Amino acid sequence: MYKHISVILLILSFSCAYKILLVFPFPGKSHSMLGEGYVRNLLKAGHEVTYITPILMKSESKQLRQIDVSSNLQLALENLLNIESLLKGEVDLGDTSMAMAMSDDIANHTLWNPAVQRLMMDPKEQFDVVVAEWLFTELYCGFAAVFDCPLIWSSSMDPHELVMTLIDEIQNPSYTATHKSGMEAPFTFFQRVKGLWEIFYVKYLKWSASGVANKIFNEGYGPALTMRGRLLPSLQEVSHNASLMLGNSHVSTGRPVRLPQNYIPIAGYHIEEEVKPLPEDIKKIMDEAKHGVIYFSMGSMLKSATMPDKLKKGFLKMFGELKQTIIWKFEEELPDLPKNVHMLKWAPQASILGHSKCVLFITHGGLLSTTEATKSGVPIIGIPMFADQFINIDRAVRRGFAKKVTLDYNCPNNLKTAIEDIVGDNRYRQKARELSFIFHHRPTSPAAELVHWIEHVVKTNGAPHLRSPALDVPFYQKFYLDLAAVIFMILVVLNKLISAVFRKKSEQKKQKTK
Ligand SMILES: *[C@@H]1O[C@H](CO)[C@@H](O)[C@H](O)[C@H]1NC(C)=O
Repeated sequence: MYKHISVILLILSFSCAYKILLVFPFPGKSHSMLGEGYVRNLLKAGHEVTYITPILMKSESKQLRQIDVSSNLQLALENLLNIESLLKGEVDLGDTSMAMAMSDDIANHTLWNPAVQRLMMDPKEQFDVVVAEWLFTELYCGFAAVFDCPLIWSSSMDPHELVMTLIDEIQNPSYTATHKSGMEAPFTFFQRVKGLWEIFYVKYLKWSASGVANKIFNEGYGPALTMRGRLLPSLQEVSHNASLMLGNSHVSTGRPVRLPQNYIPIAGYHIEEEVKPLPEDIKKIMDEAKHGVIYFSMGSMLKSATMPDKLKKGFLKMFGELKQTIIWKFEEELPDLPKNVHMLKWAPQASILGHSKCVLFITHGGLLSTTEATKSGVPIIGIPMFADQFINIDRAVRRGFAKKVTLDYNCPNNLKTAIEDIVGDNRYRQKARELSFIFHHRPTSPAAELVHWIEHVVKTNGAPHLRSPALDVPFYQKFYLDLAAVIFMILVVLNKLISAVFRKKSEQKKQKTK
C-alpha cells in the first residue's frame, strides 16, 4: 500500500518537474555553499536543475547538469587573501567600488566561458525560471532575457540598499543601516547623515560603472537573443524585473528590516535538515570531552596555512593551557600538539556545532558560520578579517552571545581571556539558545520556503501580483517633489497677489489723502 502511494507521489512530483537554471558563478566557497543549498532542495522536490558553478558538486543525480565555470577560480578573492598580508593591513576588501568592478569582471568572464556560450547559443535550451545570485553585479539577470522566463534574485546578505532598489525601493536610511555599515538604530544625527551619504555614494558608483556593465550585458547576451529572433531589453529593465528575491537573512541572524512582499527571508536553507552523524573518531573525541569542546575554524576562504609561524605556535601553546578539548580545522599538520588539541583537515562543521558538548565556536564570522552557530545555539568568539565579517561579529556581540578578538600578534593572549569569559559566564550560552529558538520557530523550514516560492513564481507566470508598485514610481513622485513645486508656485502667486492688493490699497489711500 505505502509502496503504491510513494510511486504515485513520485509520478506526481515528476509530472510538475520544472527546468531551473541556477546561476552562482562567484568563485568563493561560501557562495557555492549557498548555491548547493538551492540544488539540493530543488532536486529533492523533483525538479531538473542546471547549475552554473565554479566548484562542481559531487552528485550522481540525473536531474542535475553542472556547467563548469571553474576558470573563474583564477579571479578568486583567495588569491588576494592571506593572513600575513591582512595582519600588515595590505588588503582592504571593504571597498564597494572594487567589489563592483571585480564582480562585473567575473560576470564578463562567465558569459564568455565556452560552456556558458554553448548553453546560451543552443536554441533547444529552455527554462521555466532563472535563479541568479546578486553579488555587487546585476549582470546575471540577462539569462532570464535569453530564456524568456521569470527571474529570481538570490541575495547572500541582510537586505540592503543595493538589492532592495532592484525589487522595491531603498529602505529609509534614518533607521536602516547600509550594506557596509555595522550601525544599529536608533542612529545619532551624524549616523543618519552618514547613511544618507552612503546611499548617494553607491548610487554614484553604480552610475559611473553603468557604461562598462551595459557593454558587458549587450555583448554577452545580445547574440543569443538575436539568434532567438528577439531584441535584448536594457540591463536596467531586466534587472528591475525580478519576480522576487530569496534572501539569506532572518531576524534571528540579522536586523528586523522592513520588507516588501517580494522579499522572502530564508537564512539557514543551506544547512542540511538532517544533521549528518559525526565520523566515529570525532564523535569519540567529543563524547569524551569532560569540559566541553571548543571548535576553531577560520573558514574556507582563508587558508590557516598562510598564518605566520609565530601565531600558530602562540595558539597551540595557549590551547594547551586550557582544560577544554579543542578541535582545530587547519589545512596542515603541526608538530608538538598538546594532548587536548585535535587538528582536522576537513571538519563537518554543522555536526560538530550540533553536538551537545560543543561549548564555543571560534570563527572569522562569515555569515554562514554565524548562521550555523545561531542554529545550534553555540556562543562565538569572532576574529573578523574582511568584508561583512566585522558587521556580523559586532552584531553578535551586541546581541550578547559573542566576543570579538582582533587579529594581531597578541591574538592568542586576548583569545584566552575571551574564552575564559565566555565559558565562565552562562549568559552567553543562554542568549545563544534564545536566538536558536527564534531561528527554528518558523511556520515552515527555510528549505521548504525556497522550493515553495520558486514553484510559486513558475506557477503564476512570474508572480506579477507580488511586484512592488514602488518600482514604477519616479523619485520626484515618491518624495512629493511635484506637490512641493505646486505649493511653492501657489505661494509665489499668492505672494504676488497679496502684495499687488496691498499696493493698490496704499495707492488708493495716498490718492484719498491728497
Ligand atoms: C518581466 O518579467 C515578466 C514575468 O516574468 C516577463 O513576462 C517579461 O517579459 C519581463 N520583461 C522584461 C523586460 O524583462
